[in-house]
Amino acid sequence: MADNYLEKKMEEYRAGKGTKSLKAHTSLGKLLEKNRSYRGYDNSFVVRPDQLRSIIDVNTKVPSARNSQLLRFRPVTHQEAHKILPHIRLGGALKNLKLPFEGTEPRAFIVICSATPEPDHYVYIDLGISAQSMLLKAVEIGLGGICIGAFDKREVKEALALPYEPLLVVAIGKPNERIKLVEIGAGDSKNYWRDEEGTHYVPKVALDELIIK
Ligand SMILES: Cc1cc2nc3c(=O)[nH]c(=O)nc-3n(C[C@H](O)[C@H](O)[C@H](O)COP(=O)(O)O)c2cc1C
Repeated sequence: MADNYLEKKMEEYRAGKGTKSLKAHTSLGKLLEKNRSYRGYDNSFVVRPDQLRSIIDVNTKVPSARNSQLLRFRPVTHQEAHKILPHIRLGGALKNLKLPFEGTEPRAFIVICSATPEPDHYVYIDLGISAQSMLLKAVEIGLGGICIGAFDKREVKEALALPYEPLLVVAIGKPNERIKLVEIGAGDSKNYWRDEEGTHYVPKVALDELIIK
């Protein structure tokens, strides 16, 4: 046991105490909770190329089946957003809303492509790891995003003159939506919904129902 102030502080530091505020902000639990699928963004905020680069950088650290690393990433900033926007579909389950609302569209993207023309099962597993890791990084730097699988691949490939097949579009921006998670049973409806104030609710199956007993 340390008997003076400095040694005591050092002991606390080694034990991971005294870093509370940093931890509270960036714990994985918090990042996961904030990492919702956002379909509305503050258009007065412009995502910078270096922010997209720092998000794409997570791919230099994530696992990859057979370590094949066949994914490639095309950052798209606001100047080129018009090339993608007409070809994505957001919030298909909210039939009565036409999302995104005008003026809240995402204006930065990362298009994830496959460097192989016939991506196998493992490339798609790598794709999921990559997309979620990038979204968590976005949240860590104060942004947010969404995976977009519903997009016109041919149009996006052509509009951006991509040398590879696009597999998934990830939108990035400063979210301006309120989203809440709601615990449900495994047999309940998984459809997300919105209330009159525009709060978006996302049902998630309870832990005990996810675990196979
Ligand atoms: C692979 C993948 C593709 C998705 N594609 C779309 C899409 O095309 N359009 C959309 O609005 N949301 C899309 N989403 C977002 C899901 O609808 C969202 O993850 C789900 O509603 C749960 O919300 P949460 O991400 O906030 O937990 C996609 C999510 C994933 C993981």
